[in-house]
Formats: sequence, structure tokens, C-alpha cells
Amino acid sequence: MNAAMRDKNIVLIGFMGVGKTTIGQLVSKKLGRDFIDIDHEIEKDFQMTIPEMFQQKGEAFFRQTEKEYIFQMCEHTMGNIVSLGGGAFQQEEIRKKCLEHCFVIFLDLTWENWKQRMDLLIENRPVLHNRTIEEMKQLFNERKSIYAFHHLKVETDNRSAEETADYIVEMLKLGQS
Ligand code: S3P
Repeated sequence: MNAAMRDKNIVLIGFMGVGKTTIGQLVSKKLGRDFIDIDHEIEKDFQMTIPEMFQQKGEAFFRQTEKEYIFQMCEHTMGNIVSLGGGAFQQEEIRKKCLEHCFVIFLDLTWENWKQRMDLLIENRPVLHNRTIEEMKQLFNERKSIYAFHHLKVETDNRSAEETADYIVEMLKLGQS
């Protein structure tokens, strides 16, 4: 991997529950880089979970906070593997900042496979609360169009988290040797 690439933060984007955190942690171990989960950093600093923040401070506060944390990561850190919340790329400023400063990897998954994981995800994902399955599908499709802004897309449907992480490491090494 060349020096410019080693210095870049590698950012994982994709829909809730696609495995950004699990895969990010595996990639960080394999590359010997640090891992940052933006939502986890927010939870730690504010001493509340994301659902609690939505409830007590509102979604707008969360969106502003996630933007500040992502800007801070882009402008002041290097060489990390970073997992973003699935809604971060909705904000054009975040998209622009990440695409300019980082190497952005979109973890893709088909709706059919996501639907099978849905029940495990809903409780801790306030944006899924009170939505019908049709509304969730609509959100899934809307989000797909914002994840289209990326440097590398990785299909996760037929890969385990470990296989996906291996594939990412291989692509990073291949593309940047
Ligand atoms: C959100 C995704 C969540 C979290 C918040 C909002 C979204 O992160 O940031 O609940 O709008 O898609 P994950 O993608 O890690 O679940």
C-alpha cells in the first residue's frame, strides 16, 4: 500500500445492519490500524445510547453531532478504519468531506437479505420505529442512491464478515501497491 493510502482514513458506509462495525473491526485488525465507530464515540462522550439521544435531544441534534464528529475525524485523524452511521451520508456536507479526505467503501446488501435481519435491528434503530415494511423498503432504496457516492463498492450478500474483510484488504492492497 502506498504512503498516501496508508495515511487515509478508510470509511465504511451502508445501510443499518449491513455489518459496518463488525467488518470495520476485522479490517482494522488485519491492517493493524485503529478502528473508530462514530456512533460509539458519540455514545461514549454523551453517556447515552443513540436511541436515548433521539428521544431526549431529537434527531436534528444527533445529525448535527454526527456531522461534527465526522468532520473532526476527516480533518484531524489519519490512517484509521471508520464506521459511519447509516444515515450520515444523507448530509451532503458529510458526503463531500468524506469523499475528499477519505477512501469510502460502500458495503452493499440486497433488500431480500436485509429483510431477514430486520427483526434483530429495529429495537436499537429509532429511524426504523413506526415504519411499515413498505416504508422500510422505501428508505432502503432511497439510501441506496446516497451510498452511490463512494470509491469502492463491496457486495456482502454471499460473503461472511471475515470474507468481506479479507476482500477489502485484498482490494486495498491490489489497488494501491
Ligand atoms: C441511522 C443509523 C444508525 C445510527 C442512527 C441512525 C440511520 O447507525 O447512526 O440510529 O439513519 O441510518 P448504523 O447504521 O450503525 O445502524
